[in-house]
Amino acid sequence: MARIISDWKQHFAEIYRAEARTYQRMVAAEDAHGELADRLSDLADRATTIVDIGAGTGRLSVQLCKAGNQVHGVDQAAGMLEVAGEELAGCTGTWTLTVADARQLPIEDDWADAAIAGWVYGHFTEWHPEGWRSELDRALAEMDRVTKPGGTMVVVDTLGTAVNRPGAPNEALGHYHRHLEAFGFNRSVLRTDYRFSSAEESIELLDWFFGLGDWARDHNSALVPEYTGWWERVR
Ligand SMILES: C[S@@+](CC[C@H](N)C(=O)[O-])C[C@H]1O[C@@H](n2cnc3c(N)ncnc32)[C@H](O)[C@@H]1O
Repeated sequence: MARIISDWKQHFAEIYRAEARTYQRMVAAEDAHGELADRLSDLADRATTIVDIGAGTGRLSVQLCKAGNQVHGVDQAAGMLEVAGEELAGCTGTWTLTVADARQLPIEDDWADAAIAGWVYGHFTEWHPEGWRSELDRALAEMDRVTKPGGTMVVVDTLGTAVNRPGAPNEALGHYHRHLEAFGFNRSVLRTDYRFSSAEESIELLDWFFGLGDWARDHNSALVPEYTGWWERVR
């Protein structure tokens, strides 16, 4: 039986509060073909100072730090940043992690050559179903404030897991994508399939995070198709 997730807000809040290690195990299997890694590498080459907003367990921060960037990761969930700290321990570059909200970044104006928010802002549609646009605008204003004029702003978010073509997973996320584009972000599409260690792990983790256990059991494969949007804008 697949897990039935009736309250997505509560579901994700609980994962970010208390299940960061399982989250890290899941995202470590993502981006099987390296398309996201290539985009990050290109971003790293264009920047020195980078803010990672909603840094989570640090998968973006780690790559950027290892590429030589000075990284400041911010997340509201202390448990996620604890794992990020462990993941960043092997990076000899400069990094800082701070528990804070994306709508009130503890970073001075124009500090960053680039700012990136990966799989974060879409949550506003669940956290604030009525007022997500104004919460998103607050977060985008903060991203804009901390990025230098001429610097790069990037939003990364889902275009579907276990699907055959890219698209907004639900209506609210479709409105969110259009909101980003109206703000001046340009979208490109990445293929970010998961390659788990086994079909059993794919069933376990897809069920745990997405409630996609039935799909994973039917497909019984360690490889899971996924699309991701990369929205970029010059400050
Ligand atoms: C899906 S995870 C993405 C983590 C990381 N960026 C990655 O690429 O794996 C979403 C993260 O956004 C954080 N988050 C959600 N809303 C936030 C907010 N308003 N301010 C700061 N962090 C937030 C959560 O705590 C969680 O760590």
